[in-house]
Amino acid sequence: SENDQINLIKEHLKSYKDFPKQGVVFQDIFSVLQNPKIANVLYDVLLNKAKSIKPPVECIAGVDSRGFLFGSVLARELEIPFIPIRKKGKLPGSTKSVHYKLEYKEDDLEMQEGVVREGQKVLVVDDLLATGGSLSAACELLSQAKADVQCLVVIELSELQGRKIINVPIHSLIVC
Ligand code: PRP
Ligand code: ADE
Repeated sequence: SENDQINLIKEHLKSYKDFPKQGVVFQDIFSVLQNPKIANVLYDVLLNKAKSIKPPVECIAGVDSRGFLFGSVLARELEIPFIPIRKKGKLPGSTKSVHYKLEYKEDDLEMQEGVVREGQKVLVVDDLLATGGSLSAACELLSQAKADVQCLVVIELSELQGRKIINVPIHSLIVC
C-alpha cells in the first residue's frame, strides 16, 4: 500500500543534527536515492501523486537544485515540459527574479521569461518544504507569469509551518 511505501522511504531517510547550521535537522534525500529499489519506490509514489492532481498538470517547474532530481523524472513520465527555477545568475536570456529567505540562508530565485503561458497548470516540485521561503518564491515567479500553480514536495517539516505562507495547494508525501 502507499502507506507501506512511505514508511519504507522514511526508514531510508537519514537526518543530520546541526547541519549546515546549529539547530537545523537536515533531511538528506540523497540517502534515499543511494538505494535504487527505494529510489524507485519514491519515484512511483511521486508519480501516482502527480497523476492524482486535478486539473491535470501541464508543466513541471523544478526548484534548484534538489527539485530538479524529482521534477525532471516526473516531466519525463508525464510527457510534459520541464522548466527550471534557479538560483540567481544561472539562467540565460531575460529572467524575473525574487529574493527569499530559507531555513539557513537567503538568496534569489529566477525564472526565464516566456516559459509558461497564462492559465497553464504548473506543478512546482521540490524535495523539501521547511520554512516555505523557497517554494513561495517559486510560486511568486509563476504567479507573476499568471500560471495556475500547485506544489508537490517529498518531505514537509510540519513544525516550521511553511505551508502557512503559501497560498496555493501543496501536496506532500512525507510529513515529519
Ligand atoms: C533546500 C531544499 C528546498 C529548500 C527548503 O534547498 O531543497 O529547496 O531548502 O527550505 P525552505 O522551505 O526553508 O525554503 P537549498 O537552497 O539548500 O539548495 P539545494 O537544493 O541546492 O541543496
Ligand atoms: N532545506 C531547508 N531546511 C532543510 C532541512 N532541514 N533538511 C534538508 N533540506 C532543507
